[in-house]
Amino acid sequence: MPNLHQSATPILTAQIPALAPAFERMQGNILKSHGRDHAVNIFVHFTKPKASVKAFLKKYAPKLTTLAKQLKERQEFKESGLEGEIFRGVLLTGKGLSHLGASLAGFPAEFKNGMKSSVPRLNDPAVPLWDPGFRQEIHALFILADDDRHFLSREARALIGRLSTVGNVVQVETGHGRRNDNGDHIEHFGYVDGRSQPLFFEEEVASEQSNGGIDKWDPAAGPNLVLVKDPLHAHAESYGSFFVFRKLDQDVRGFKRAEENLGNAQLNADKEIAGAQVVGRFENGAPVTLAAAATMSPGGGTSLPAPVDDLPPTGVPNNFNYDADAAGQRCPFHAHIRKTNPRGSSPGGLDFDRTKRLARRGIPYGDRPEKEEPSIDLMPSGNVGLLFGCFVADIAQQFEFVQGTWVNNNSFPHSNDGIDPVIGQNPSSTPQPWSQRYGQMVPLATPIDFKGFVRMRGGEYFYAPSVPFFG
Ligand code: HEM
Repeated sequence: MPNLHQSATPILTAQIPALAPAFERMQGNILKSHGRDHAVNIFVHFTKPKASVKAFLKKYAPKLTTLAKQLKERQEFKESGLEGEIFRGVLLTGKGLSHLGASLAGFPAEFKNGMKSSVPRLNDPAVPLWDPGFRQEIHALFILADDDRHFLSREARALIGRLSTVGNVVQVETGHGRRNDNGDHIEHFGYVDGRSQPLFFEEEVASEQSNGGIDKWDPAAGPNLVLVKDPLHAHAESYGSFFVFRKLDQDVRGFKRAEENLGNAQLNADKEIAGAQVVGRFENGAPVTLAAAATMSPGGGTSLPAPVDDLPPTGVPNNFNYDADAAGQRCPFHAHIRKTNPRGSSPGGLDFDRTKRLARRGIPYGDRPEKEEPSIDLMPSGNVGLLFGCFVADIAQQFEFVQGTWVNNNSFPHSNDGIDPVIGQNPSSTPQPWSQRYGQMVPLATPIDFKGFVRMRGGEYFYAPSVPFFG
């Protein structure tokens, strides 16, 4: 049996029984999303001595949702429709581990120093501008998730009460899934989110293969993308993972106005296709790079033949790359999904790009009607957003690389490509080279610097230890 933290291929169904001991030790939500519609994130600063906190965690550990439990619940759901129990996870920061007296010898610097120290590298807002709770020294993140939001609230209240016996709860962030009319998950700007993920199980890859294909983009990933051998627990089958948490506020009104302005500035005069060039997908998730054939008439008219964002019966496509769009005529190089996953179109090439993937585990936050407001003026300009989260094996080489070297970089993949218009942060950004017309390379006469609609309000780097670490 390969060491999971070194294995670069998905877990085979036939391997699962032999991996049971490793899966019993591993926290859930790392190799498979917990999939619940509501989540509460409780951030804690421990104040009580190490012995009391350790005793608390030891008592809590049997309640954690392991990967083994996730797989069992999934099987039961398939067989009898039984829903899973509440999801529970516990993650610790470098400072939290120190409080517990754990050795930090096996941990990398960016984790030990925490997200506050990475502000200059990521162009994040200065720490005094973060939400008050995130400015404090955070030791742990307790994650609860369930499909029943009222039950979840009560469980969260009870846990917060118990946590007050060992520390201060410095921040609580509640997330609620949003869906469009097709039932797909969306974020607050209205776009399908969470579609493209690394898949760690043979069974998941096979399902993609029969549902849209994997020949252009293979979502298969080895557990080595997210797992490390647990430095806190000597057992050969104890694995952990690093978790990046960021609270990202979304100015929906500002974004939607900018989308409209961009659409108006382009000869296509179509805000849908302007937005698709910002994100790389239409709101319904259709990749803009695939919408080309119907819309690229040489010298064509001022409007686009509609519809350009039809979804195939297999749902939101993910089997695509940018090979047929090497000049960025349809999906610009700066579009959010091309910046964060160039799918082989970066100077590093496909194998390199694949090592930068993130197992995204975010959920939207903030009060908003279930259906989008009827006009842009009524849309929120803040206090809604994304509780971004992702698991990685290497924070510096994956999350920080993507945000710092690709997203925030005017010159990735080429000079003056501009920053990611959704999440790019760069005080000296240059306007992105938007085209006058979709499918053509003629740039807009008046450049548009599309940015500033996502504001980071705080975050931290965490580690998900193997369950036996808690004792
Ligand atoms: C409020 C902030 C954000 C919004 C609104 C947003 C929105 C989206 C949307 C709509 C998609 C397309 C759906 C999909 O392919 O799954 C997407 C994909 C993605 N996003 Fe974000 N995102 C945000 C933050 C971030 C951050 C902070 C990162 C990492 C630094 C990130 C990395 C990715 C990646 C890797 C993909 C998949 C790209 C692919 O494989 O094609 N996103 N995001």
